[in-house]
Amino acid sequence: MADAIAIYLVNADQLQNDHADSVAWSQASGFSGQAGEVCLVPDTTGKIAKVLVGRPEVINTWTLGNLPKTLPAGTYALAEHFSEQDATKLYLGWQLGSYSFDRYKLTKAGRVAILQTPDNIDVPYAKAATEATYLVRDLVTTPSNNMGPDQLEEVARSLAERYEAQVEVIAGGDLVIENYPMIYAVGKASTRAPRLIDMRWGNPDAPKVTLVGKGVCFDSGGLDIKSATGMRLMKKDMGGAAQVLGLAQMIMETGLPVNLRLLVAAVENSIAGNALRPLDILTSRKGTTIEIGNTDAEGRLVLADALWEASSEDPDLLIDCATLTGAARVALGSELPAFFCNDDATKEKLLSAGLATDDPLWNLPLHSAYRTMLDSPVADMNNIANASYGGAITAALFLQEFIQADTSWIHVDLMAYNLRSLPGRPEGGEAMGMRALFELVKQHVA
Ligand code: BES
Ligand code: ZN
Ligand code: ZN
Repeated sequence: MADAIAIYLVNADQLQNDHADSVAWSQASGFSGQAGEVCLVPDTTGKIAKVLVGRPEVINTWTLGNLPKTLPAGTYALAEHFSEQDATKLYLGWQLGSYSFDRYKLTKAGRVAILQTPDNIDVPYAKAATEATYLVRDLVTTPSNNMGPDQLEEVARSLAERYEAQVEVIAGGDLVIENYPMIYAVGKASTRAPRLIDMRWGNPDAPKVTLVGKGVCFDSGGLDIKSATGMRLMKKDMGGAAQVLGLAQMIMETGLPVNLRLLVAAVENSIAGNALRPLDILTSRKGTTIEIGNTDAEGRLVLADALWEASSEDPDLLIDCATLTGAARVALGSELPAFFCNDDATKEKLLSAGLATDDPLWNLPLHSAYRTMLDSPVADMNNIANASYGGAITAALFLQEFIQADTSWIHVDLMAYNLRSLPGRPEGGEAMGMRALFELVKQHVA
Protein backbone atom coordinates (compact mmCIF):
# COMPACT_ATOMS: atom_id res chain seq x y z
CA MET A 1 0.00 0.00 0.00
CA ALA A 2 1.32 3.38 -1.00
CA ASP A 3 0.45 5.14 2.24
CA ALA A 4 2.05 2.63 4.64
CA ILE A 5 4.97 4.11 6.57
CA ALA A 6 8.24 2.34 5.84
CA ILE A 7 10.22 0.77 8.68
CA TYR A 8 13.98 0.44 8.19
CA LEU A 9 16.13 -1.76 10.41
CA VAL A 10 19.48 0.02 10.55
CA ASN A 11 22.71 -0.25 12.47
CA ALA A 12 25.14 2.67 12.85
CA ASP A 13 26.79 2.05 9.47
CA GLN A 14 23.53 1.67 7.60
CA LEU A 15 22.31 4.86 9.25
CA GLN A 16 25.33 6.78 7.90
CA ASN A 17 25.34 5.15 4.46
CA ASP A 18 21.69 4.59 3.56
CA HIS A 19 19.98 7.35 5.54
CA ALA A 20 22.46 10.22 5.26
CA ASP A 21 19.60 12.72 5.03
CA SER A 22 18.30 11.56 8.42
CA VAL A 23 21.55 11.49 10.38
CA ALA A 24 21.20 14.97 11.88
CA TRP A 25 17.61 14.32 12.92
CA SER A 26 18.33 10.92 14.36
CA GLN A 27 21.32 12.27 16.30
CA ALA A 28 19.16 15.08 17.66
CA SER A 29 16.60 12.53 18.79
CA GLY A 30 19.16 10.26 20.42
CA PHE A 31 19.02 7.47 17.83
CA SER A 32 22.30 5.84 16.88
CA GLY A 33 21.18 2.51 15.39
CA GLN A 34 21.55 0.48 18.58
CA ALA A 35 19.19 -2.46 18.93
CA GLY A 36 16.06 -1.42 20.82
CA GLU A 37 16.12 2.21 19.65
CA VAL A 38 13.34 3.69 17.53
CA CYS A 39 13.28 6.99 15.64
CA LEU A 40 10.36 8.59 13.82
CA VAL A 41 11.67 10.71 10.94
CA PRO A 42 9.36 13.52 9.71
CA ASP A 43 9.05 14.85 6.19
CA THR A 44 9.12 18.59 5.45
CA THR A 45 5.42 18.93 6.33
CA GLY A 46 5.89 17.25 9.73
CA LYS A 47 4.25 13.94 8.78
CA ILE A 48 6.10 10.71 9.57
CA ALA A 49 8.23 9.91 6.51
CA LYS A 50 9.79 6.72 7.84
CA VAL A 51 10.68 4.84 11.00
CA LEU A 52 14.24 3.82 11.84
CA VAL A 53 14.69 0.86 14.19
CA GLY A 54 18.04 -0.14 15.69
CA ARG A 55 19.15 -3.35 14.03
CA PRO A 56 20.23 -6.22 16.27
CA GLU A 57 23.08 -8.53 15.22
CA VAL A 58 20.54 -11.29 14.69
CA ILE A 59 16.87 -10.67 13.84
CA ASN A 60 14.56 -12.40 16.26
CA THR A 61 10.89 -12.62 17.17
CA TRP A 62 11.15 -9.70 19.59
CA THR A 63 12.97 -7.22 17.33
CA LEU A 64 9.77 -5.26 16.57
CA GLY A 65 7.83 -6.40 19.63
CA ASN A 66 7.60 -2.96 21.24
CA LEU A 67 6.48 -1.10 18.13
CA PRO A 68 2.72 -1.84 17.96
CA LYS A 69 2.15 0.03 21.20
CA THR A 70 4.85 2.72 20.87
CA LEU A 71 4.35 3.87 17.27
CA PRO A 72 1.44 6.19 16.51
CA ALA A 73 -1.63 4.32 15.27
CA GLY A 74 -1.36 3.80 11.53
CA THR A 75 -0.18 1.30 8.95
CA TYR A 76 3.48 0.39 8.59
CA ALA A 77 5.44 -1.82 6.23
CA LEU A 78 8.90 -3.39 6.29
CA ALA A 79 11.10 -1.55 3.79
CA GLU A 80 13.47 -4.46 3.38
CA HIS A 81 12.94 -7.94 1.97
CA PHE A 82 13.73 -10.52 4.66
CA SER A 83 14.03 -14.29 4.42
CA GLU A 84 10.77 -16.14 5.06
CA GLN A 85 12.02 -17.15 8.47
CA ASP A 86 13.02 -13.66 9.56
CA ALA A 87 9.96 -11.99 8.06
CA THR A 88 7.71 -14.49 9.84
CA LYS A 89 9.47 -13.82 13.14
CA LEU A 90 9.25 -10.05 12.74
CA TYR A 91 5.57 -10.23 11.87
CA LEU A 92 4.78 -12.69 14.68
CA GLY A 93 6.58 -10.53 17.25
CA TRP A 94 4.58 -7.54 16.10
CA GLN A 95 1.33 -9.49 16.48
CA LEU A 96 2.32 -10.75 19.93
CA GLY A 97 3.19 -7.19 20.96
CA SER A 98 -0.25 -5.96 19.87
CA TYR A 99 -2.01 -7.92 22.61
CA SER A 100 -3.91 -6.29 25.45
CA PHE A 101 -6.11 -7.84 28.10
CA ASP A 102 -9.05 -5.45 28.40
CA ARG A 103 -11.93 -7.76 29.24
CA TYR A 104 -12.65 -5.92 32.50
CA LYS A 105 -11.93 -2.38 31.30
CA LEU A 106 -14.77 -0.04 30.41
CA THR A 107 -12.33 1.81 28.17
CA LYS A 108 -10.83 -0.75 25.82
CA ALA A 109 -7.22 -0.56 24.69
CA GLY A 110 -6.70 2.04 21.97
CA ARG A 111 -5.80 1.23 18.39
CA VAL A 112 -2.34 -0.18 17.93
CA ALA A 113 -0.07 0.32 14.95
CA ILE A 114 -0.64 -2.21 12.17
CA LEU A 115 2.11 -3.97 10.23
CA GLN A 116 1.32 -4.93 6.65
CA THR A 117 1.79 -8.66 6.19
CA PRO A 118 5.09 -9.19 4.34
CA ASP A 119 4.31 -11.26 1.25
CA ASN A 120 6.72 -14.12 1.93
CA ILE A 121 5.79 -15.09 5.49
CA ASP A 122 4.31 -18.36 6.69
CA VAL A 123 0.82 -16.95 7.22
CA PRO A 124 -0.87 -20.09 8.64
CA TYR A 125 1.91 -20.48 11.22
CA ALA A 126 1.89 -16.81 12.23
CA LYS A 127 -1.89 -16.85 12.56
CA ALA A 128 -1.92 -20.07 14.57
CA ALA A 129 0.89 -18.96 16.89
CA THR A 130 -0.73 -15.56 17.46
CA GLU A 131 -4.20 -16.92 18.19
CA ALA A 132 -2.88 -19.66 20.45
CA THR A 133 -0.71 -17.22 22.41
CA TYR A 134 -3.64 -14.84 22.82
CA LEU A 135 -5.74 -17.77 24.04
CA VAL A 136 -3.16 -18.79 26.65
CA ARG A 137 -2.74 -15.20 27.85
CA ASP A 138 -6.51 -14.66 28.09
CA LEU A 139 -7.05 -17.89 30.01
CA VAL A 140 -4.22 -17.31 32.48
CA THR A 141 -4.89 -13.62 33.10
CA THR A 142 -8.63 -14.10 33.57
CA PRO A 143 -9.16 -14.19 37.33
CA SER A 144 -10.20 -17.38 39.00
CA ASN A 145 -13.77 -16.21 39.66
CA ASN A 146 -14.30 -16.33 35.89
CA MET A 147 -11.91 -19.20 35.09
CA GLY A 148 -12.87 -22.27 37.08
CA PRO A 149 -12.81 -25.94 36.04
CA ASP A 150 -16.19 -25.40 34.37
CA GLN A 151 -14.86 -22.54 32.23
CA LEU A 152 -11.81 -24.59 31.22
CA GLU A 153 -14.24 -27.25 30.05
CA GLU A 154 -16.12 -24.61 28.03
CA VAL A 155 -12.88 -23.53 26.36
CA ALA A 156 -12.11 -27.12 25.37
CA ARG A 157 -15.64 -27.59 24.07
CA SER A 158 -15.48 -24.48 21.92
CA LEU A 159 -12.12 -25.55 20.49
CA ALA A 160 -13.61 -28.97 19.77
CA GLU A 161 -16.53 -27.40 17.98
CA ARG A 162 -14.28 -25.18 15.89
CA TYR A 163 -11.96 -28.00 14.80
CA GLU A 164 -14.41 -30.92 14.86
CA ALA A 165 -12.76 -32.71 17.75
CA GLN A 166 -14.44 -35.02 20.28
CA VAL A 167 -14.62 -34.12 23.96
CA GLU A 168 -15.51 -36.23 26.94
CA VAL A 169 -15.62 -34.85 30.44
CA ILE A 170 -15.63 -36.83 33.67
CA ALA A 171 -16.69 -34.58 36.54
CA GLY A 172 -17.38 -34.68 40.28
CA GLY A 173 -18.21 -38.08 41.80
CA ASP A 174 -17.86 -39.74 38.38
CA LEU A 175 -14.10 -39.27 38.79
CA VAL A 176 -14.26 -41.83 41.60
CA ILE A 177 -16.39 -44.22 39.55
CA GLU A 178 -14.08 -43.88 36.54
CA ASN A 179 -11.00 -44.27 38.74
CA TYR A 180 -9.41 -40.83 38.83
CA PRO A 181 -9.20 -40.77 42.63
CA MET A 182 -6.48 -38.18 43.01
CA ILE A 183 -8.10 -35.64 40.66
CA TYR A 184 -11.23 -36.04 42.73
CA ALA A 185 -9.42 -35.81 46.08
CA VAL A 186 -7.64 -32.56 45.19
CA GLY A 187 -10.73 -30.88 43.75
CA LYS A 188 -13.52 -32.12 46.01
CA ALA A 189 -13.42 -29.24 48.53
CA SER A 190 -14.31 -26.66 45.90
CA THR A 191 -17.87 -25.64 45.08
CA ARG A 192 -16.74 -25.93 41.46
CA ALA A 193 -16.55 -29.65 40.62
CA PRO A 194 -13.20 -31.13 39.59
CA ARG A 195 -13.05 -32.74 36.16
CA LEU A 196 -10.94 -34.51 33.58
CA ILE A 197 -11.33 -33.00 30.13
CA ASP A 198 -10.46 -35.47 27.38
CA MET A 199 -10.30 -34.25 23.78
CA ARG A 200 -9.39 -36.25 20.67
CA TRP A 201 -8.72 -34.96 17.18
CA GLY A 202 -7.10 -35.98 13.92
CA ASN A 203 -6.24 -39.12 12.05
CA PRO A 204 -6.28 -42.28 14.21
CA ASP A 205 -3.59 -43.78 11.96
CA ALA A 206 -1.18 -40.85 12.36
CA PRO A 207 1.49 -40.70 15.10
CA LYS A 208 -0.15 -40.34 18.47
CA VAL A 209 0.71 -37.21 20.41
CA THR A 210 -0.85 -36.76 23.83
CA LEU A 211 -0.83 -33.49 25.75
CA VAL A 212 -1.57 -33.27 29.47
CA GLY A 213 -2.13 -30.04 31.40
CA LYS A 214 -2.26 -29.00 35.04
CA GLY A 215 -5.50 -27.07 35.31
CA VAL A 216 -5.51 -25.92 38.94
CA CYS A 217 -7.84 -22.97 38.55
CA PHE A 218 -6.84 -21.59 41.92
CA ASP A 219 -4.23 -22.98 44.27
CA SER A 220 -4.88 -21.85 47.83
CA GLY A 221 -2.50 -24.58 48.97
CA GLY A 222 -5.38 -26.45 50.57
CA LEU A 223 -5.16 -27.05 54.33
CA ASP A 224 -1.41 -26.47 54.02
CA ILE A 225 -2.49 -22.97 53.11
CA LYS A 226 -0.19 -20.64 51.24
CA SER A 227 0.90 -17.26 52.58
CA ALA A 228 -0.83 -14.20 51.16
CA THR A 229 2.17 -13.46 48.94
CA GLY A 230 2.46 -17.09 47.86
CA MET A 231 -1.25 -17.27 46.97
CA ARG A 232 -1.63 -13.93 45.22
CA LEU A 233 -0.87 -15.08 41.68
CA MET A 234 -2.37 -18.55 41.93
CA LYS A 235 -5.07 -17.83 39.35
CA LYS A 236 -2.27 -18.75 36.96
CA ASP A 237 -2.00 -22.30 38.32
CA MET A 238 -3.96 -23.51 35.29
CA GLY A 239 -1.19 -22.17 33.04
CA GLY A 240 -0.10 -25.66 31.99
CA ALA A 241 -3.66 -26.47 30.92
CA ALA A 242 -3.85 -23.16 29.05
CA GLN A 243 -0.57 -23.92 27.29
CA VAL A 244 -1.63 -27.40 26.12
CA LEU A 245 -4.97 -25.98 24.95
CA GLY A 246 -2.99 -23.38 22.99
CA LEU A 247 -0.64 -26.02 21.61
CA ALA A 248 -3.62 -28.20 20.61
CA GLN A 249 -5.13 -25.20 18.87
CA MET A 250 -1.89 -24.61 16.93
CA ILE A 251 -1.81 -28.27 15.89
CA MET A 252 -5.43 -28.30 14.77
CA GLU A 253 -5.33 -24.87 13.12
CA THR A 254 -2.31 -25.80 11.01
CA GLY A 255 -3.70 -29.29 10.40
CA LEU A 256 -0.64 -31.28 11.49
CA PRO A 257 -1.00 -34.96 10.63
CA VAL A 258 -1.32 -36.26 14.18
CA ASN A 259 -3.59 -38.41 16.24
CA LEU A 260 -4.03 -35.87 19.02
CA ARG A 261 -5.26 -36.44 22.53
CA LEU A 262 -5.51 -33.69 25.14
CA LEU A 263 -6.11 -34.37 28.82
CA VAL A 264 -6.69 -31.50 31.21
CA ALA A 265 -7.06 -32.14 34.92
CA ALA A 266 -9.19 -29.16 35.95
CA VAL A 267 -9.64 -28.60 39.68
CA GLU A 268 -9.60 -25.91 42.32
CA ASN A 269 -7.39 -26.57 45.36
CA SER A 270 -9.73 -25.21 48.03
CA ILE A 271 -10.24 -25.39 51.77
CA ALA A 272 -13.39 -26.86 53.34
CA GLY A 273 -14.40 -29.48 55.89
CA ASN A 274 -14.05 -32.20 53.28
CA ALA A 275 -10.67 -31.06 52.00
CA LEU A 276 -7.72 -33.38 51.53
CA ARG A 277 -5.65 -33.45 54.76
CA PRO A 278 -1.93 -33.75 55.44
CA LEU A 279 -1.01 -37.41 55.87
CA ASP A 280 -4.18 -38.67 54.21
CA ILE A 281 -3.34 -41.63 51.98
CA LEU A 282 -4.82 -41.85 48.48
CA THR A 283 -4.85 -44.73 46.04
CA SER A 284 -3.86 -43.46 42.60
CA ARG A 285 -5.36 -44.50 39.26
CA LYS A 286 -2.25 -46.63 38.82
CA GLY A 287 -3.12 -48.47 42.04
CA THR A 288 -0.18 -47.28 44.12
CA THR A 289 -0.79 -45.48 47.40
CA ILE A 290 0.30 -41.89 47.95
CA GLU A 291 0.77 -40.27 51.33
CA ILE A 292 -0.03 -36.55 51.34
CA GLY A 293 3.02 -34.86 52.83
CA ASN A 294 1.66 -31.50 51.75
CA THR A 295 -1.72 -30.56 50.29
CA ASP A 296 0.00 -27.76 48.36
CA ALA A 297 1.80 -30.32 46.18
CA GLU A 298 -1.53 -30.90 44.42
CA GLY A 299 -0.47 -30.48 40.80
CA ARG A 300 1.54 -33.69 40.72
CA LEU A 301 -1.44 -35.59 42.18
CA VAL A 302 -3.90 -34.56 39.49
CA LEU A 303 -1.26 -34.97 36.78
CA ALA A 304 -0.37 -38.46 38.02
CA ASP A 305 -3.85 -39.82 37.30
CA ALA A 306 -4.00 -38.07 33.92
CA LEU A 307 -0.48 -39.18 32.94
CA TRP A 308 -1.15 -42.80 33.87
CA GLU A 309 -4.20 -42.76 31.60
CA ALA A 310 -2.25 -41.00 28.82
CA SER A 311 0.72 -43.32 29.03
CA SER A 312 -1.41 -46.49 29.13
CA GLU A 313 -2.37 -45.80 25.48
CA ASP A 314 1.31 -45.90 24.50
CA PRO A 315 1.51 -42.56 22.60
CA ASP A 316 4.49 -41.80 20.35
CA LEU A 317 5.05 -38.60 22.27
CA LEU A 318 3.65 -37.51 25.62
CA ILE A 319 3.98 -33.90 26.76
CA ASP A 320 2.77 -32.41 30.02
CA CYS A 321 2.84 -28.74 30.97
CA ALA A 322 2.41 -27.53 34.53
CA THR A 323 3.06 -24.60 36.85
CA LEU A 324 4.35 -27.33 39.11
CA THR A 325 7.01 -25.98 41.46
CA GLY A 326 8.36 -22.78 42.93
CA ALA A 327 11.70 -24.60 42.93
CA ALA A 328 11.88 -24.53 39.11
CA ARG A 329 11.54 -20.76 39.34
CA VAL A 330 14.24 -20.51 41.98
CA ALA A 331 16.52 -22.50 39.67
CA LEU A 332 15.82 -20.74 36.36
CA GLY A 333 13.85 -17.59 37.13
CA SER A 334 10.34 -16.90 35.93
CA GLU A 335 11.06 -16.46 32.21
CA LEU A 336 12.86 -19.70 31.37
CA PRO A 337 10.75 -22.84 31.66
CA ALA A 338 12.38 -26.06 32.83
CA PHE A 339 11.79 -29.32 31.05
CA PHE A 340 12.56 -32.93 31.86
CA CYS A 341 12.73 -35.72 29.31
CA ASN A 342 13.28 -39.47 29.56
CA ASP A 343 14.60 -39.72 25.98
CA ASP A 344 17.87 -38.06 24.90
CA ALA A 345 17.04 -37.63 21.21
CA THR A 346 13.77 -35.86 22.01
CA LYS A 347 15.53 -33.73 24.61
CA GLU A 348 18.06 -32.47 22.05
CA LYS A 349 15.29 -31.75 19.55
CA LEU A 350 13.35 -29.67 22.06
CA LEU A 351 16.46 -27.68 23.03
CA SER A 352 17.07 -26.86 19.34
CA ALA A 353 13.41 -26.11 18.68
CA GLY A 354 13.45 -23.65 21.58
CA LEU A 355 16.42 -21.77 20.14
CA ALA A 356 14.98 -21.82 16.61
CA THR A 357 11.66 -20.32 17.73
CA ASP A 358 13.02 -17.78 20.25
CA ASP A 359 11.11 -19.77 22.84
CA PRO A 360 13.88 -21.44 24.83
CA LEU A 361 13.54 -24.04 27.55
CA TRP A 362 16.27 -25.39 29.81
CA ASN A 363 16.77 -29.06 30.53
CA LEU A 364 16.92 -30.36 34.11
CA PRO A 365 17.79 -33.96 34.95
CA LEU A 366 15.53 -36.80 36.04
CA HIS A 367 18.20 -37.58 38.62
CA SER A 368 17.05 -41.00 39.80
CA ALA A 369 19.25 -40.95 42.91
CA TYR A 370 16.77 -38.45 44.39
CA ARG A 371 13.88 -40.87 43.98
CA THR A 372 14.32 -42.20 47.53
CA MET A 373 13.50 -38.72 48.84
CA LEU A 374 9.89 -39.52 47.93
CA ASP A 375 9.78 -42.67 50.07
CA SER A 376 7.00 -42.89 52.63
CA PRO A 377 7.06 -45.00 55.78
CA VAL A 378 3.39 -45.95 55.40
CA ALA A 379 2.50 -45.71 51.68
CA ASP A 380 4.14 -46.52 48.33
CA MET A 381 5.23 -42.92 47.91
CA ASN A 382 4.93 -39.46 49.46
CA ASN A 383 3.78 -36.51 47.35
CA ILE A 384 6.65 -34.36 48.65
CA ALA A 385 10.35 -34.99 49.09
CA ASN A 386 11.91 -35.16 52.55
CA ALA A 387 14.54 -32.62 51.47
CA SER A 388 14.50 -28.87 51.04
CA TYR A 389 16.51 -28.81 47.80
CA GLY A 390 15.88 -30.06 44.28
CA GLY A 391 12.12 -29.60 44.41
CA ALA A 392 11.64 -29.33 40.63
CA ILE A 393 13.53 -32.59 40.13
CA THR A 394 11.72 -34.53 42.84
CA ALA A 395 8.37 -33.31 41.46
CA ALA A 396 9.39 -34.57 38.01
CA LEU A 397 10.51 -37.90 39.51
CA PHE A 398 7.11 -38.18 41.16
CA LEU A 399 5.43 -37.73 37.76
CA GLN A 400 7.80 -40.22 36.14
CA GLU A 401 6.35 -42.96 38.35
CA PHE A 402 3.17 -42.61 36.28
CA ILE A 403 4.80 -42.91 32.86
CA GLN A 404 5.42 -46.27 31.15
CA ALA A 405 9.18 -46.62 30.74
CA ASP A 406 9.02 -46.88 26.93
CA THR A 407 6.91 -43.74 26.40
CA SER A 408 8.87 -40.67 25.17
CA TRP A 409 7.83 -38.07 27.68
CA ILE A 410 8.47 -34.38 28.21
CA HIS A 411 7.47 -32.57 31.37
CA VAL A 412 7.50 -28.76 31.22
CA ASP A 413 7.53 -26.82 34.50
CA LEU A 414 6.65 -23.24 33.57
CA MET A 415 5.70 -19.94 35.18
CA ALA A 416 3.02 -19.07 32.57
CA TYR A 417 3.18 -15.45 33.66
CA ASN A 418 5.27 -12.43 32.71
CA LEU A 419 6.18 -10.61 35.91
CA ARG A 420 7.56 -7.76 33.77
CA SER A 421 6.79 -6.50 30.29
CA LEU A 422 9.32 -7.32 27.57
CA PRO A 423 9.10 -6.60 23.82
CA GLY A 424 6.16 -8.63 22.49
CA ARG A 425 5.40 -10.01 25.96
CA PRO A 426 3.21 -7.77 28.11
CA GLU A 427 2.98 -8.38 31.86
CA GLY A 428 0.40 -11.10 32.65
CA GLY A 429 -0.41 -14.63 31.52
CA GLU A 430 1.99 -16.08 28.96
CA ALA A 431 2.69 -19.18 26.89
CA MET A 432 6.24 -20.32 27.63
CA GLY A 433 7.69 -23.03 25.43
CA MET A 434 4.54 -23.48 23.34
CA ARG A 435 6.10 -22.53 19.99
CA ALA A 436 9.09 -24.75 20.74
CA LEU A 437 6.80 -27.68 21.55
CA PHE A 438 4.82 -27.07 18.36
CA GLU A 439 8.06 -27.21 16.36
CA LEU A 440 8.99 -30.46 18.11
CA VAL A 441 5.61 -32.05 17.38
CA LYS A 442 5.82 -30.89 13.77
CA GLN A 443 9.23 -32.54 13.35
CA HIS A 444 8.00 -35.64 15.14
CA VAL A 445 5.18 -36.24 12.69
CA ALA A 446 7.00 -35.06 9.55
N1 BES B 1 1.39 -24.08 42.03
C1 BES B 1 2.46 -24.34 42.92
C2 BES B 1 3.83 -24.09 42.31
C3 BES B 1 4.24 -22.70 41.96
C4 BES B 1 4.40 -21.74 42.94
C5 BES B 1 4.55 -22.39 40.65
C6 BES B 1 4.84 -20.47 42.59
C7 BES B 1 4.99 -21.14 40.30
C8 BES B 1 5.12 -20.17 41.28
C9 BES B 1 2.43 -25.78 43.40
O1 BES B 1 1.20 -26.39 43.47
C10 BES B 1 3.03 -25.78 44.77
O2 BES B 1 2.43 -25.17 45.62
N2 BES B 1 4.19 -26.40 44.91
C11 BES B 1 4.89 -26.40 46.15
C12 BES B 1 5.36 -27.81 46.40
C13 BES B 1 5.86 -28.04 47.80
C14 BES B 1 4.69 -28.05 48.77
C15 BES B 1 6.56 -29.38 47.81
C16 BES B 1 6.08 -25.45 46.02
O3 BES B 1 6.66 -25.37 44.93
O4 BES B 1 6.37 -24.77 47.00
ZN1 ZN C 1 0.21 -26.05 45.36
ZN1 ZN D 1 -0.27 -25.65 42.19
